Amino acid sequence: MNKLVVKIEMSGNRFNAWDSEGIKHTSEINNSTRKSAFKAGMALEKREGKTGKTYWWKVPMSEFEKSSAPVFNAEELAVPEDHAEILNFIHSSYSLKPELLVMKELKWKYLVRGAVRGKNILMTGPAGCGKTLAAKSLVGAMNRPDFYFNLGATQDPRATLIGNVHFDKKDGTYFSESLFVKAIQTENAVVLLDELSRAHPDAWNILMTVLDEGQRYLRLDEADGQATIKVAKGVTFVATANIGNEYTSTRVMDKALMDRFIIVEMDVLNDEEELGLLTYLYPNVDPELLKAVAEIANSTRVEASSEDGKFASGVSTRTSVEMAGLIFDGFGLDEAAEVCVYPQFDSSGGADSERTFIKQLVQKYVSDGTDENLFNEEEVGEESEAEYTS
Ligand SMILES: Nc1ncnc2c1ncn2[C@@H]1O[C@H](COP(=O)(O)OP(=O)(O)OP(=O)(O)O)[C@@H](O)[C@H]1O
Ligand SMILES: [Mg+2]
Repeated sequence: MNKLVVKIEMSGNRFNAWDSEGIKHTSEINNSTRKSAFKAGMALEKREGKTGKTYWWKVPMSEFEKSSAPVFNAEELAVPEDHAEILNFIHSSYSLKPELLVMKELKWKYLVRGAVRGKNILMTGPAGCGKTLAAKSLVGAMNRPDFYFNLGATQDPRATLIGNVHFDKKDGTYFSESLFVKAIQTENAVVLLDELSRAHPDAWNILMTVLDEGQRYLRLDEADGQATIKVAKGVTFVATANIGNEYTSTRVMDKALMDRFIIVEMDVLNDEEELGLLTYLYPNVDPELLKAVAEIANSTRVEASSEDGKFASGVSTRTSVEMAGLIFDGFGLDEAAEVCVYPQFDSSGGADSERTFIKQLVQKYVSDGTDENLFNEEEVGEESEAEYTS
């Protein structure tokens, strides 16, 4: 028998219970049960006791989301071909997004749509904002064969993307093709090209024809221009790139290469979203501390994005997750900041350095406890002004 799980919604002063098919179950559940589930942000599942009596039990909201999973089953999906099916898939796909990935519904659907439509997708955004996580989550949601290549980590793009020439006494010289060659010959494969922006320019050149809509082939030996391998039907490329003004270490990607992609820009989380994520990951950590982490991260980002801001770049979500993890493991907020935040800020310039400024920012949360007004944008602004004029 299928589980019946309902979600409670408040309308006026009533707490209504709805199942995933939109059927109302309010009258079957007493008011205090509905109210307490609503307050706890939980769903209710109908269960049967030993005596056969039914009751409603609080379960995590994800149980409800599971029961309202897409009308059609992602398991059966390779690549939907019928338009109605494609529409259905794209627009119900938000439930396939893992909960731990924070990404707006529109962006996620745009990403899924790109994959369903066989586009080359380029995820962009600053370091540690979830590009790789989103790309991997997409692969997880698609139920298609997938291949992962970290192009930022390879020294030898030809070996990674094409293959190696070997010599063997018996067989003489022979060519062993790369996993990438296999990947692009696999129908409907999703091929992740992580850290494309950090790849060697040779890798970009090799990928030019592969990614080009009109060409879609890989040339095995660029020198004699002979053997080529066709990209199979339905292959989707998902690349990530750290493109942003402050990332000078990243090679500037070739415009022609960029042009071969649709761009999905990852949003940097605001403090509320950041806090939501940290709370989801570390529900047992003091909420005030998580709030401090989220606010510190957010303030640095705001500063970094303002023209005369003190910081060249802000604290990433990767770092704030790391901080929350340290706090979970018993480190203080100040200690967590000292080991994983301060080193990211330049200490040259002494009292005027980024390091000094970030320390002052963190200190506001450390010394005064939990008061919400602790961090005050204006105050920081004044401080930095004072420093400039002194
Ligand atoms: N939007 C997000 N939702 C959930 N977790 C996130 C998000 N952004 C960052 N994180 C956290 O930060 C970690 C790093 O994210 P990820 O590796 O996806 O970053 P990235 O954008 O690929 O960074 P880089 O540019 O350095 O490759 C994740 O493992 C996750 O814990
Ligand atoms: Mg990454």
